[in-house]
Amino acid sequence: MALAGDPVAGAERAGDPGAGADWWRQAAVYQIYPRSYADANGDGIGDLAGITSRIPYLASLGVDAVWLSPFYPSALADGGYDVDDYRDVDPRLGTLDDFDRMIAALHDAGIRLVADLVPNHSSDRHEWFRAALAAAPGSPERARYIFRDGLGPHGALPPSDWQSIFGGPAWQRVPDGQWYLHLFAPEQPDLNWDNPEVRADFVRTLRFWSDRGVDGFRVDVAHGLAKRLTDPLPSTEELAGLGPGAHPLWDRDEVHDIYAEWRRVFQEYDPPRTAVAEAWVEPDRRARYAHPEGLGQAFSFDLLEADYDAAGFRRIIADNLAFARKSGSSTTWVFSNHDVVRHATRYGLPVPADGGPQKGREWLLSGGIEPALDRERGLRRARAATLLMLALPGSAYLYQGEELGLHEVAEIPDKDRQDPTFFRNAGVEIGRDGCRVPLPWTRDGSSFGFGADGAHLPQPTWFGAVSVEAEEGHDASTLSLYRRALALRRRLQGPEELRWRDTDRASVLAFERPGGWCAVMNFGPDATPLPEGELLLASGPVADGVLPPDTTAWLRVR
Ligand code: NOJ
Ligand code: CA
Repeated sequence: MALAGDPVAGAERAGDPGAGADWWRQAAVYQIYPRSYADANGDGIGDLAGITSRIPYLASLGVDAVWLSPFYPSALADGGYDVDDYRDVDPRLGTLDDFDRMIAALHDAGIRLVADLVPNHSSDRHEWFRAALAAAPGSPERARYIFRDGLGPHGALPPSDWQSIFGGPAWQRVPDGQWYLHLFAPEQPDLNWDNPEVRADFVRTLRFWSDRGVDGFRVDVAHGLAKRLTDPLPSTEELAGLGPGAHPLWDRDEVHDIYAEWRRVFQEYDPPRTAVAEAWVEPDRRARYAHPEGLGQAFSFDLLEADYDAAGFRRIIADNLAFARKSGSSTTWVFSNHDVVRHATRYGLPVPADGGPQKGREWLLSGGIEPALDRERGLRRARAATLLMLALPGSAYLYQGEELGLHEVAEIPDKDRQDPTFFRNAGVEIGRDGCRVPLPWTRDGSSFGFGADGAHLPQPTWFGAVSVEAEEGHDASTLSLYRRALALRRRLQGPEELRWRDTDRASVLAFERPGGWCAVMNFGPDATPLPEGELLLASGPVADGVLPPDTTAWLRVR
């Protein structure tokens, strides 16, 4: 149960994460997947006017910024990460005027906007790709993408045996016999970042949105833009042994020249625009992306990928704080986003026999039947982990619906699935639709208040009980916990430091933050004594000085 009347009255506020050029360093950033947030015109697809209508909700939640997943024109071959036009709004989501209204209203509410930018690939409907297909091999139009002749008789074999991230070959043949590279879906041709025209166009895009008031950018596949494609291309087997920096496709050092140029653009604005890299790189290479002369911040997915384990969490936290010191950036934390099984569900599934982390794959493939999900345990652990995260120095990235304690939706019929991962890996991967189901706002009604006329992915019957309406005003609800935690965090957050506290038990983590408050999390199966101090907030019922299993508490200690 969440506690505390006005626990922070008189609390010293050492910093102001909401203000100035450094606003992002310890911001709570809430990710909106726009097609699944709120549907204002009742066509079953969430839209920008829907988001604008929910700004009072975002303000009452207490987030500092919204990260908006792609809202650009798109055929939705990959949920909007296949962009037809980088400088427009998908007509199903609204217009540029709707965008301007939304950002003005967000700013009026004191909330910043981070736009998703997808530079590694465009969609196959982008005017450049259409022009490339219409032009001849070797033409300047083709040089904006990565076209190659095939191997074998008549070039009928792909230029290499590379597989795309979504499964299947990474090369697609076009009618004149050439092949183009798509590291993701065939509808997502990779752009050629050696081409100055590509670079100049993205600078134009950065200015276009920055001029419209966008405060920062989340950079999709930030580690993939720079490629070194020799002739002949190496095989998948040859790629396997290549260390960081040596791979022709991922995490090449030259990618930072691109970000240095972007940084100069960001600095033209007041306050400077910010960016956060989605870069799946070795933790010790992350600092390059987070460097102040580069993108400035990078996601750490280490906690998201970790087992539910005190020692593992402690090591990750310590390492990430050290990496942040190295880069000069602040660190980042995330448990859920639109690409992974929601953390309430991950923590409620049995740990697989091989001891590896449970990602929910088998559970999803079985339609949510095997292995069994312990919903309560999962939610209890997710609440505890989130409360720990919100006490850490650095930025916390939250994903829409986690503030309701939503579980992954497993029960989506095959005919309704949208994720390319599902279509390209029949029977092996089920894809990411289960965390992208439109949000429940009300207990009942068509689409639980998402919109007037159904939702583009089917919502389960249990959504009503975890809707905003059902949780509003309930002290013990996950929504109330998030609201309290975010409000307290704003007021307590000080310098980006923590000091570990010794605990008697290996399954208990505790740390103190400047300003005299501490967080303690009990990962273990047994209750443990609470440290001395005034209880500010807890993720579960705390009584008689005892912290139950799977629970986190914040205390004022001085
Ligand atoms: C990462 C995005 O988060 C994911 O949703 C997308 O499918 C890939 N990048 C490709 O753009
Ligand atoms: Ca709509």
